[in-house]
Amino acid sequence: MKLNKNELEKISNFIYKESGISLDSEKLKRLQRKIESIFKKHNFENFSTFYHRLRFLKDEELIEELINSITINETYFWREPKQFEILAKEILPKFINTQKELTHVRILVAPSSSGEELYSIMIAILEQNGLIEKLNIEMVGIDIDSSMILKAKSGIYSKRSVSKLPTHLVEKYFKKINNFYQIDKNLVKVAKFLKANIFEENLEYTLGKFDIIFSRNMLIYFDKNKKLLCFEQFYQLLKDDSYLFLGHADANHIDKTKFIPLKNAHHIYKKATL
Ligand SMILES: C[S@@+](CC[C@H](N)C(=O)[O-])C[C@H]1O[C@@H](n2cnc3c(N)ncnc32)[C@H](O)[C@@H]1O
Repeated sequence: MKLNKNELEKISNFIYKESGISLDSEKLKRLQRKIESIFKKHNFENFSTFYHRLRFLKDEELIEELINSITINETYFWREPKQFEILAKEILPKFINTQKELTHVRILVAPSSSGEELYSIMIAILEQNGLIEKLNIEMVGIDIDSSMILKAKSGIYSKRSVSKLPTHLVEKYFKKINNFYQIDKNLVKVAKFLKANIFEENLEYTLGKFDIIFSRNMLIYFDKNKKLLCFEQFYQLLKDDSYLFLGHADANHIDKTKFIPLKNAHHIYKKATL
């Protein structure tokens, strides 16, 4: 089954509407191959039956299969660690002796992919003795790709995945099992990972509000419209006196009246209270 240009366009529009991901020509090729294999697996008679099930019957399993197949999940431990240091050594200590210490500090990693970034943040905070307990820190990771959420929950990683993490931290927080690295079960127990789309309405009600949001290397896949929607979502999800951490290529079209960049600080923004 070979898709024609019009059919491929229909699927790519569907994916854009569902996930916000705009597909470039390389991803379209990947999509073409993926759809061919989905066709074989499910024995679809023709394009219309497939598209109908996707678009009009909203078959969740099929949608999930499609979305999982086009996401770019590249991530690893200790990616751009300067931000972790600023968080653990400068920003979180400022929360001590404030209202936040009396309640608890909530950190969202959106997207979390397979969990490496969220666990890296936990490790950076744990290395500052007592901070986690003192601020009663809660960590939540979300990603649209259900297979990545499962991997994050398992806490099992490859050698390549931990290769940028300083050796003493690998030794301290991981158990080596054959060729794999199992992260300390206590970290797995307290981290929360959920499948969610950042564009979901009412995310604020399902997840609650946060003091810190990390959103690195997802906005780069969105066009201007979706970027604006995404920043609006972050604005709603953030409490007062809170911070947004972005990747180095994610800040295009950010509204600087709503997010004020910290001086010299590595794509970190403070939420402005209007
Ligand atoms: C390249 S990874 C970034 C992972 C991690 N933040 C990092 O910087 O290492 C991008 C992730 O964004 C997720 N993603 C894409 N669109 C999304 C959406 N609409 N809602 C939630 N996650 C999404 C993908 O599934 C993928 O796992």
